[in-house]
Amino acid sequence: MSDYPSEEFNTAKKLLRKFCETHRQNKSIDIFSSYTELFKSGTFNNAETAELLFTIEDDTYNYLFDRDINIFCEDMKYDTLLNIFSGSGRLVKQLAHLGISRKFKTIYNIDSSREMIEFEKKFLHEDNTKFVCQNFFDIETSVYQYNAAVCHCGLRYVDKYEYDKFLKKLLVMKRDNFAKSIITEINDEIIGEIIRILDIEKIKFTHIRRLYHMQRNTTLYLSLKYYEDDKTFRELVSNISTQSKKHTGDILKEISGFKTSDMHIIIF
Ligand SMILES: C[S@@+](CC[C@H](N)C(=O)[O-])C[C@H]1O[C@@H](n2cnc3c(N)ncnc32)[C@H](O)[C@@H]1O
Repeated sequence: MSDYPSEEFNTAKKLLRKFCETHRQNKSIDIFSSYTELFKSGTFNNAETAELLFTIEDDTYNYLFDRDINIFCEDMKYDTLLNIFSGSGRLVKQLAHLGISRKFKTIYNIDSSREMIEFEKKFLHEDNTKFVCQNFFDIETSVYQYNAAVCHCGLRYVDKYEYDKFLKKLLVMKRDNFAKSIITEINDEIIGEIIRILDIEKIKFTHIRRLYHMQRNTTLYLSLKYYEDDKTFRELVSNISTQSKKHTGDILKEISGFKTSDMHIIIF
């Protein structure tokens, strides 16, 4: 097959190599769960991989401020948005693409990683977008008069024992600002824990649960179809197959990140 999109194919190869490196560095983890590790390393202090992931289409960025969410945030004034754990900045990038980011007077992207902040700055040039390189747990809440805070798939980077601290910080900010907080997660366990804490704190919240066809790696998925054409690529997959005793088909599916999944959105 000669007409495969070579750029996508190269992306897939790079991503797969990174996957193998991550796996080699940490032999104790299961190869399949280590894929999650790759995604962690992807935006955690690693601009190179963030750049790679950036080329991948991710549906989850489209719905965060869509009609359903706005129904629950009817009173939300588009004033100041705190984008907590902003990572590679993809959320704001997508909000800009959808024409939503300019509705906000100010957007603060908050991330503790200097590398990720520098990475975001390269493509987020709107006057209303500011960058704060700080640990969320250390930020002085009174500085920010905001009316919406969003943490999109960021909680998986927080130690489970700190969810409580995380939520309490948001709750103080909410009380001081009458703000809305939006937390999203795919992981059922994480969201269960968040709901448990909100219940204990007697905080009213809205839980939206939707089935999503996660095409997180659409680009990668496409290119994987052509993996037969590349020897190195095939060898990498074959090595993983031997090590993990899994079929190559399963590995390809796993690497592609092509999944159907529930996405939870909690608004309070
Ligand atoms: C993958 S991102 C989350 C996804 C991101 N919200 C998006 O929309 O693409 C996770 C980010 O959280 C940041 N992070 C982790 N712990 C943090 C903390 N305590 N305070 C601020 N940022 C933190 C990491 O540096 C990483 O860039």
